[in-house]
Formats: sequence, C-alpha cells, structure tokens
Amino acid sequence: MKRITRNFAGALGIYLMVFFPGFAASQAQETSFHNAPASAKEMKNPYAGQQGASSKATYHLRCARCHGENGEGSGNIPALATGKAQSATDGELFWYITKGDVNNGMPSWQTLPRAQRWQIINYVRVLGGSKPGSPRVATTPDEAVAVAVNAPPPKAPFTDYRFEKPGVVRKITLNDLPAPFATNSAGNSPKLVPRPQKAWPQVPSGFKVELYATGLKEPRLIRTAPNGDFFVAESKSGEILVFHGITADGKPERTETFATGLNRPFGINFYPPGPNPQWVYVGNTGSVVRFPYQNGDLKARGPAEHIADVPAGDGHWTRDIQFSLDGKKMFVSVGSASNVDDSDTTPAEKNRADVLEFNPDGSEMRIYAYGIRNCVGLAVNSKTGELWCSVNERDALGDNLVPDYITHVQDGGFYGWPWWYMGGHQDPRHKGKHPELKDKVITPDVILHPHNASLELTFYDGKQFPAEYQGDIFAAEHGSWNRSVRVGYELIRVPLHQTGHASGEYEDFMTGFVVDNGHVWGRPVGVTVAPDGSLLVTDDGSKSIWRISYTGK
Ligand code: HEC
Repeated sequence: MKRITRNFAGALGIYLMVFFPGFAASQAQETSFHNAPASAKEMKNPYAGQQGASSKATYHLRCARCHGENGEGSGNIPALATGKAQSATDGELFWYITKGDVNNGMPSWQTLPRAQRWQIINYVRVLGGSKPGSPRVATTPDEAVAVAVNAPPPKAPFTDYRFEKPGVVRKITLNDLPAPFATNSAGNSPKLVPRPQKAWPQVPSGFKVELYATGLKEPRLIRTAPNGDFFVAESKSGEILVFHGITADGKPERTETFATGLNRPFGINFYPPGPNPQWVYVGNTGSVVRFPYQNGDLKARGPAEHIADVPAGDGHWTRDIQFSLDGKKMFVSVGSASNVDDSDTTPAEKNRADVLEFNPDGSEMRIYAYGIRNCVGLAVNSKTGELWCSVNERDALGDNLVPDYITHVQDGGFYGWPWWYMGGHQDPRHKGKHPELKDKVITPDVILHPHNASLELTFYDGKQFPAEYQGDIFAAEHGSWNRSVRVGYELIRVPLHQTGHASGEYEDFMTGFVVDNGHVWGRPVGVTVAPDGSLLVTDDGSKSIWRISYTGK
C-alpha cells in the first residue's frame, strides 16, 4: 500500500474501499460490531492459527497499556478477553482496529503492518479462551497436518499422538508444569474421517480388540447394569439404549431402546446399589430423572419421574451420577458454564464446576466438592467407597497447561477453578483474587496430559485380565482441540497397585484413532466392565462400541 500523505480521513476512506470492496455500499448498514460493513465481517484472517511469539509481544507493546495485560479492560476502556470483542469476527476486529475510534480514545492502527494487526487479533482470541460461542484461533485440519510434520518430538513427560503407544507408562508431576502462555494456544479441532481400511485400535500384547456394535448415533456414557446388560446414552438423540449379551462372535444378542425424549442424557446409574435395583437414574443436562426398573428390563416399565433440577445452560453439559455404597447419598457432577469465568461475578456459574450431593430422592442438595472445572466421569471404588472423578481442565494457557486429572474427591475439597490451578498456581486471568484459597487447592492423584479431555472412568473388577489389573482404573480420553499437536484419543489405564491408591502413573492402553494432526477416526468416551471381564469402550467418532478381551497370546 502507498504511504498515506493526504488528510487522514480521506486516506482512510480510500484504504477501506481498497481492502473492503463493500465498504462504500454497506457503510450505512446496521451490523453487530461498531457498524462494521458486511465485507469486513466476512474477511478471513490469513494468519489464523499461525501466531508466533510475536503476537503476544505486539499486543503487550501496543494494546496492553489501555486494555490491560490480559485484555481485562479498565474504567471505560472495554475488555477484549470478554464481551463484544469476542463475539466479533476476526474481520470485524481488523476493520475496527484499523480505523480506530479516535474521538473515543481508541487509536487507529492502520500504520501498523497488516500482519501485525492480524496477529494481535490472534492474541485477543487467546485472551478470550474458549468462552461458549466465541470464535477461536482456528487451524484448519490441513494446516494442522503440516504443524505435526514440522514439530520436534515433545519434551518428556509431555507427549502427543505420534508417541502414544499401548504399554507406555507416563507420569507428570507439578514440577513439570510450564508457565502460562509458554506456547500459543491452538484451535485444533479434528476433522472426523471414516476409519481407514487398515486402521484398528491397538492394545498391549495379550489383548485383542473386536467391534461389538456400530452404526450408533453418538454413543457416550456406557454403564453395566447389575444383571450384566449395557446401558448406553445416545446423548444427541435423547435416548438410552440397552445392549443385552455377547454372542459367540462378539456381538450383542439384543439391542433395545430403553427410553426416549430425554434432554442430552449422559449419566446412568442403578438404585439402590446391589444386585436388585428398583430404579434407573439418568442425568439429563438440566435434571436428574429416574425410571422404575427390574433386572432384565429392556424398556422402561414406566414414565420418567423428576428427581432434581441441576444447573444447565451454556458450557459443559454432561451430568454423571453415582451413589454412595450405602445408598444414602447421590452424587451428580456439573461442569462449568465457561472456560474460566469468575464464579463470584458470573451468575451462570452458580453451583457449577462442582460435584453436588443429594439424597437419592433429590432433596437436601449441597456442594460436595468445588473448583472442579468439568468432572465428566464419576466412579465409586467398591472396595474403599471413595468417589473418583475424571476432569477436564481449562484452555487457552498453552499446549502443556492445565493438566486434566483423575482423582478421588474429598468432601469439601477445593480443586482450584477458576482462580487457581494445581500446585497453588494462580490463573493469570484472575490475578490477585482469593489469596486465601491458594493453599487449599488439592493436588489430584493422577495428573494427566493437558488437553487429553478425560471422560468416563471405571474400576476394573472383572476376572478376565491378569491379576495385576485388579482394581485398576480405565479411563477414556476423548482427545484435544486446544493443542498444536494433538494428544489423547486413547483409553488409559491407571494402576492402583492393589492398594486402592494411585501413584500418579498412567499407561497408554488402547490407541490408534488418529490419522494425522488434522484428522481422526475415533474418539473414546465411555468405558465399562462386562460380566465376562472384557472391557467395552464407546467411541463417538466412529459411532461404535469396541470390546477388549485378554487372550494371553
Ligand atoms: C490509548 C488507549 C488505547 C490503546 C493503546 C488501544 N485501545 Fe482499543 N480502545 C480504547 C478505547 C478507549 C476504546 C473504546 C472506544 C469507544 O468507546 O468506542 C477501545 C476499543 C477497542 C475495541 C472495541 C471493543 C468493544 O468491545 O467495543 C477493540 C477491539 C480494541 N479497542 C482493540 C485494541 C487493540 C487490538 C489495541 C492494540 C493494537 C488497542 N485497542 C489499543 C483505547 C485504547
């Protein structure tokens, strides 16, 4: 572009017409972000997902003195990490910062090179985290492929899909955690592709994997009923399915729809605990309901009875359910509404990022544990009675922060979110808040790889696997989006060493779902133990249920 020598307003008008051809025509049109023209809205960020370290530095040099180091804003200078800026498109932001609003104190940045303006926008996205509905720093699957080809091997103990392999034992400790923003934050959601012809899930030697069922809609949580039937949540279509039996060639003997018309069901459990349940409890996204049940029922024998409302709305929608061994208490996990909004000042976060406790009739709700960002899977250890949880931690702090985790959950325990995270680290987006909570943040039993997306977990109490597996945890890792080279997409084993306690180690157990850094064909969600001691694993990527058996060969 030629140097601008004429008066500012005239030059700006020409500039805008050159780069936003629709500007003159659409100027008068009402649009969402500072009346940006439609052509600006549509403009694509040519640097999406390619922010170098310089984007952060440029933001700090040019914008932070007014909008704050973390885009928090101050006085009448608007926040950029939240609010309107996060719902604008990259093109609208580019248009706005180019033009500025000099009369209102926002400088024009048109003399800043275009590349720098786009990269600042990338950093504004990083500051925004993954707030629901906000656009993210996008990497297209094709761009992502190249990222992994060029990426150096990860530094242990961190890893990525290229190095996941059945039998590899991992251990991440608090000392391994990098500083926030040590790397940029990726928007690397996978593209789902059909299973390539030669691809099949990989397990340690001595085990084999068969396809138990396929052609499902969106199989999520799977739980074994006391009589050995498998209950599966088809969350998107609002159904609960029942799979009965395993034939000689490893397929279900019968498949039935137990209940329909539910609202994103996920958690399923049987009450009272023991061999003769009377009810099937289901966790909708906004409520807990129960159906009358007798062993062997393949269809609900009565309508759903409402038990309790649970908070719902934006954000994490899964609700899992467990009962204490004595049947006196019901636990329901409710994830946060946002990535990392301040729950003090955000009404939508009330009673979220918690494990809630109720009586089984839905009365006497209280917060059992808090600051657990998104406990997707709940399980009770039948030997110790402890409640355990599989948790998704927060995004937008870099490739190797914050670790997901698996832990036993303490009554009254605080797990850090949103102001802190494990190790007494303050979230940089909440500097200075709640100093009194720093030392209360519980270190989880098992620190998982950051961005793994750890979902359902179960204790292995079957008789088929070798004795050393008795009492171990298996957990399904759905796989990352907020990481430049993808990680997760596997089933992991957490050894409890026949002690009931974790040592912090975990092991890759079933892998092989990733094609390349842009494309995957499978995503583990649920895991349960079958009556014969094999494991069933739901996969909402290939819409299947896999069965892992031990053959000893
Ligand atoms: C000298 C202080 C100052 C600096 C430096 C500054 N801004 Fe602003 N910015 C403002 C003010 C004041 C406003 C509000 C203008 C108004 O009221 O319309 C604003 C508004 C904005 C908005 C609109 C937000 C909204 O919610 O409507 C964006 C986006 C923005 N600035 C981005 C940036 C970026 C990116 C940089 C760095 C390249 C930057 N600003 C540098 C003062 C500043």
